[in-house]
Amino acid sequence: MEELLYEGKAKQLFQTEDPNILRVKYKDDATAFNGEKKARLTGKGELNNQIAAWFFQFLKDKGVPNHFIRMISPTEQLVKKVAIIPLEVVVRNIVAGSLAKRLGLEEGTSLRQPVVEFYYKNDDLGDPLINQDHIAVLELASEEQLHEMKTIALQVNELIRGQMDRLGITLVDFKLEFGIDAEGRVLLADEISPDTCRFWDQRTKERLDKDRFRRDLGQVIEAYEEILSRLGGKQGV
Ligand code: C5P
Repeated sequence: MEELLYEGKAKQLFQTEDPNILRVKYKDDATAFNGEKKARLTGKGELNNQIAAWFFQFLKDKGVPNHFIRMISPTEQLVKKVAIIPLEVVVRNIVAGSLAKRLGLEEGTSLRQPVVEFYYKNDDLGDPLINQDHIAVLELASEEQLHEMKTIALQVNELIRGQMDRLGITLVDFKLEFGIDAEGRVLLADEISPDTCRFWDQRTKERLDKDRFRRDLGQVIEAYEEILSRLGGKQGV
């Protein structure tokens, strides 16, 4: 039996026989507000597995290396093992969510340039926003690693924003996580899905992401299905 290495809010990570490869199982569980709000959304695991696989393959094809290897079942994918850097890197193109609250800006306002933010991944502290000096004194990442993460995050933004734009969807903001691989390199990891991005339909202005769950807007699964369908639909494994 493969060892369960880690169970997160939306995924389980298993060690495979190869020490450098993990199996990720996407779950149907949805959580928000640091785990305060919970639900089971049947089908979400499969949708996020497919959508994340699509984005990671797309980025790989465009020259942005990441942990994704391949999908192995409707809800599972193989990934390279990395040591996760305890930072959440958020990129924003349009004001929404916590930025609207923190700076008193109106949701939907376009930002004149992408805004990159770092959050300290720490459930007990509620994932606080931190700056480069905090990251240095907490020794969470080196200056070089931080620069690398920011550069990749902005590249990912340009690529996914352009792609979604062609599909009639605005990439409002998203969160990335990075790890250090066996060779000591910074590698894009974790997940890219409607759980971690805000997507707004350009025609209907509807939210096609986890805000439907956070804000009780209903039709969460239908929104995720819409994202997968615009990306070309379900891929067999
Ligand atoms: O809540 P906030 O506005 O800071 O979120 C910014 C972006 O980061 C959103 O797309 C949200 O889905 C994502 N995010 C995430 N995981 C978190 C916090 C934010 O995926 N723990």
